[in-house]
Amino acid sequence: MSGRVPIEPQRVDAPLTQAATFLVLSLTDAPDAVKTVRSTIASVDDLAKNVSIRDLGASFACTVGIGSDVWDRVTGLPRPAELHPFPEVKGAKHTAVSTPGDFLFHIRSERRDLCFEFERQLLDLLGDSVKVVDETVGFRYFDVRDLLGFVDGTANPVGPSVPESILVAEEDTAAAGGSYIVIQKYVHDLKAWRGLSTEQQEAILGRTKLDNIELDDVPEGKQAAHKQLATIEDENGVEHDILRDNMPFGSPGSGEFGTYFIGYSRRLWVIEQMLQRMFIGVPPGLHDRLLDFSTPLTGTTFFAPSASLLAGLDSD
Ligand code: HEM
Repeated sequence: MSGRVPIEPQRVDAPLTQAATFLVLSLTDAPDAVKTVRSTIASVDDLAKNVSIRDLGASFACTVGIGSDVWDRVTGLPRPAELHPFPEVKGAKHTAVSTPGDFLFHIRSERRDLCFEFERQLLDLLGDSVKVVDETVGFRYFDVRDLLGFVDGTANPVGPSVPESILVAEEDTAAAGGSYIVIQKYVHDLKAWRGLSTEQQEAILGRTKLDNIELDDVPEGKQAAHKQLATIEDENGVEHDILRDNMPFGSPGSGEFGTYFIGYSRRLWVIEQMLQRMFIGVPPGLHDRLLDFSTPLTGTTFFAPSASLLAGLDSD
């Protein structure tokens, strides 16, 4: 962010790490629940320090997202202009479900134990003010591949385009330095996916599998690949990127194979349009074939306010 404005974003652009925990919580009606949550998230930086100091090379970072339903009660601040609950997207064949969740903690580190320890200390502080809705532990799989075998994250913005793509700026000054976050926890039918040839899989994703080379887009009206459906241009032909930090998760022993999708964006409408294009299809009916092998179990939207705003929550 510009040094002229005393607004520090959270570590939303933290590097891709070996381990991540995605913790979704809901607010309870315990006495003082709001007060406890507010003071805990306001001091999340101190909590992060307790843990990150134990291995400075482990790139520890935690981003806090707050959901639409509790925004007013918990922050008492103006609502970010686009913040609303995740809207269900119902295509002819597949549905992007909308599921509850008031807070997201996106915990990242090179070391799984640091993620674990942070989460333990955090939940201790939060006590009965929250209920765990979902806890998913992700891991890096080889050269940043998803469990479908493809390199995931290549088209992410880099350098100066990162803040440009993910941080709200002058268009909504009260929310400046913050970022919209959408999460979806997908499980894959790996057996069916393995039944496809590599060429069929590549046509679905839009990149080659081994060397990750982008395939040409198809003409309008034909079945488009995932990467084409997830490319958004506005009415002036300007392309809008989002930052994804997807992580594989699962357990071969229980037959669970998944991708935890997390997208950060300056503009919530961009991610919502991606979902429309994937689930409804372009033209409608030609949905993203990735969904024939991947089912979202969750779908929730959050806003990660700037670090300065978060730290100020405890000041009243
Ligand atoms: C099962 C879940 C998903 C998997 C396994 C998956 C996997 C991939 C892979 C392998 C790529 C190509 C490499 C890259 O650029 O990263 C890609 C691209 C992309 N995906 Fe996904 N994805 C999933 C869900 C989603 C969802 C839900 C969204 C948005 C709402 C999304 C947005 C994108 C975008 C924006 C790109 C880059 C497109 C471009 O080339 O500009 N993905 N994804």
